[in-house]
Amino acid sequence: MHKVMINRIKGTQDIAFEDIEYWHFVEEAIRNISHKYAFTEIRTPIFEATELFERSVGESTDVVQKEMYTFEDKGGRSITLRPEGTAGVARAFIENSFVNLGSPVKLFYNGPMFRYEKPQAGRLRQFHQFGAEILGSESPLADFEIIEMAYSFLKELKINNAKLFINSIGCPACREDYKTALKEYYSDKLPGMCPDCQRRYDTNVLRLLDCKIDKELVHGAPGILEYLDSDCRSHFEELQWYLQRAGIEYEVDQFLVRGLDYYTRTAFEIRSSSLGSQDQLVGGGRYDGLVEYIGGKSCPAVGFAIGLERIVMLLKSESVKINGPETSEVAILAFGREESVRGFDYARRLRKMGVSTFVDVMERNMRNKMKHAARIGAKISLLIGKEEIERDIVTIKVMNDGSQFQVDSDYMADYVVDKLRDIS
Ligand code: HAM
Repeated sequence: MHKVMINRIKGTQDIAFEDIEYWHFVEEAIRNISHKYAFTEIRTPIFEATELFERSVGESTDVVQKEMYTFEDKGGRSITLRPEGTAGVARAFIENSFVNLGSPVKLFYNGPMFRYEKPQAGRLRQFHQFGAEILGSESPLADFEIIEMAYSFLKELKINNAKLFINSIGCPACREDYKTALKEYYSDKLPGMCPDCQRRYDTNVLRLLDCKIDKELVHGAPGILEYLDSDCRSHFEELQWYLQRAGIEYEVDQFLVRGLDYYTRTAFEIRSSSLGSQDQLVGGGRYDGLVEYIGGKSCPAVGFAIGLERIVMLLKSESVKINGPETSEVAILAFGREESVRGFDYARRLRKMGVSTFVDVMERNMRNKMKHAARIGAKISLLIGKEEIERDIVTIKVMNDGSQFQVDSDYMADYVVDKLRDIS
């Protein structure tokens, strides 16, 4: 019978061996920065009720219209694999009454997200985000801290070629005037525009500014900043004042509108020209209406999310030094049944002392066992054959110089631990 290969789903990745070292490196940096900023971790489910995303991300957005992995479960509920993390965090905040913990609540998360997008370098269907959210503060201090945290994260990873863009998209009230102005601007250009824009003109006119096809038109469009009311304007000015005082460089991009509907006031992105066409590393902003909109008490909030595949791409391309692969320190090479029993006993003793111990579970000759021990980078091999059992000893081979010693089995663990210390 012809066997058909089953391949991984388009737009997903298998991350292993050398690659996983980059992920461990980044995950450690996430834990470090979050600890330093005193954010605590939240893990929400990978799937949620579809309605959560429809209501928070927005019915008319590309994410909801085209990109969600939505299915019916066996109980007939409509379920969606989360396309982003903020909606789930806001839902959890309400459902668990985190508001009772006092304001502000500072949370971070790190996990897989799913969007049915056209895969290309830096754009996947299953990707990972590190996100941070501050709930409970309407002050520009919170916007500043969120941006500073994303910025320091990149700095700690030595990602320098990244630029911060900020904008304010106002509150729903002042945005209405702006939308009217935009509609006026686009009204006579609409017939020549792409079908998506024609649809968005009525449902979400701000998105016309983000069209990848009719890019040029944006240059003549009115900017949002002159439409901001005085509260929104001073919020934006305050944020900029704090950024300047911290020496964080930024550019105001009046046409930065973000692809998700929940934003109010501050919107920002950090982009890196080293990434090619998918240049957005970080996206974030304020979402003062979201918690109330999905059923909670009104609660201002602001946050960011960083795409980890893009971070890893940059680390690789900029040859940032990461820890080498975690190899096992000791390989146990036992030939025969009694010998194997002894081998497992040694492994238990070494593991108790915290030594990473690889047991060769292949029944093959010593030469091939040694070859494999070298291949996996073991620092020391323990050889256990007939002679070793008879004399109650073990042969210890130091892999980098080939030197060999025979030691009484009682002293094996102490000897190995000392030797490992000498080698490193
Ligand atoms: P977003 O801009 O949609 O924002 O995504 C944030 C980051 O996730 C992007 O800058 C990018 O690095 C990464 N990303 C998005 N889609 C993909 C993809 N298909 N493949 C690889 N990476 C991707 C949000 O998701 C908001 N929840 C951010 C936020 C948090 N706003 C407030 N709080």
